[in-house]
Amino acid sequence: MIELILKKRHGIEHSREDLEQIISGSVSGDIPDYQLSAWLMATCFQGMSPQETADLTNAMAQSGDMLDLSALNNTVDKHSTGGVGDKTSLVLAPLLAACGATVAKMSGRGLGHTGGTVDKLESIPNFKSELSDDAFIRQAQSVGVVITGQSKDLAPADGKLYGLRDVTGTVESMPLIASSIMSKKLASGAKSMVLDVKVGTGAFMKNLDDARELAKAMVDTGKRNGRNMRAIISDMNQPLGFAIGNASEVNEAIACLKGENIPDLRELSIVLAYEVLDAAGISKSKEEIATLLDNGTAFEKFIAWVEAQGSSGSSLENGLELAGQTHVIKAKSSGTLQSIDTLAVGNAVKLLGGGRQQKTDILDLGVGIHLHAKVGSELSKGDVLMEVFHNSKGLEAALNSLESACVIGDASFAELPLVYERLS
Ligand code: URA
Repeated sequence: MIELILKKRHGIEHSREDLEQIISGSVSGDIPDYQLSAWLMATCFQGMSPQETADLTNAMAQSGDMLDLSALNNTVDKHSTGGVGDKTSLVLAPLLAACGATVAKMSGRGLGHTGGTVDKLESIPNFKSELSDDAFIRQAQSVGVVITGQSKDLAPADGKLYGLRDVTGTVESMPLIASSIMSKKLASGAKSMVLDVKVGTGAFMKNLDDARELAKAMVDTGKRNGRNMRAIISDMNQPLGFAIGNASEVNEAIACLKGENIPDLRELSIVLAYEVLDAAGISKSKEEIATLLDNGTAFEKFIAWVEAQGSSGSSLENGLELAGQTHVIKAKSSGTLQSIDTLAVGNAVKLLGGGRQQKTDILDLGVGIHLHAKVGSELSKGDVLMEVFHNSKGLEAALNSLESACVIGDASFAELPLVYERLS
């Protein structure tokens, strides 16, 4: 390991065998943490070539279970680097199935200010997020969509390396971030995928250059490992849609699946569907995809999906119930809404009990926030900015977080684009 650390420190490219040795030694415990940490730091400074990043990713993916989706046709997946109010997976999965693709996904739970898809799904009464291997594949074959929690040990090397990166100041390295995300994606088995790299104040990547570099590294890594890849860079300077919080995000996703025009959510879902279908060789125009939202086909697929996982479609007819108490936040002045502190909104929902501070936290799925205004809205003093659904717990801390989250002013205003770029 000393030789391998020196090699990276001197900027010499690692071979595939070097990287396999480092990854197997990290998982077995044969390489002590101090040597791994030194190697991570050297990697942070020296970076990695595209081939090294791809080989590292492959070794990390192979460090645990690899989902075998070979019995399924046209397997597609989407990965978002994390956003507030991002419920696109709930719209996209049935929409893609309605287009003839198969979504068979094990999804992580949320930690921090962004929610996890499985947490959102569990706010639907009786939704089963654990299925046997057989039932998982059978549902994917019969319905075209299945999403469960992560029951497999996918890319354990990432857990080990991420734990060390977190405490050694080595999180911010493009090849390490790209291999961390893509190792889990490779292990998840889909043949074609689209990455939604978020950029903005509420995102992991704060500027477009960094987002582009990460997107390129991940697309390249996926391609070198035999996957069909697309990526888009999309805006996270404000929450997506109007609803933030598990049950309320499901309600908003259902509205979108029924054809209601929630502009950013609808557009993003259509763009992501178009990109990943194109990657999978399924030719559908954006207009054809939109029609499946408008004519009820995608919603029917959603109902078939949640019913296959134990829920009843009729429990969704009036929307999921939210927390019983509400608190309204009003505009303190008139003007244009200039910005929304997206992290503050995500954190407020977490403080109300809707997100995890620790992995073991139990969520209150009914709490959340409904935005009544988005960036660019014209407001009069006293207009409602947001409505907080709560059960008393954490309310004071949440309101503190939201205190100055919305900036209202008179500055002239350029509308934020939703999608900045696409990469293929
Ligand atoms: N998300 C991940 O999964 N890994 C990283 O390194 C950063 C963000």
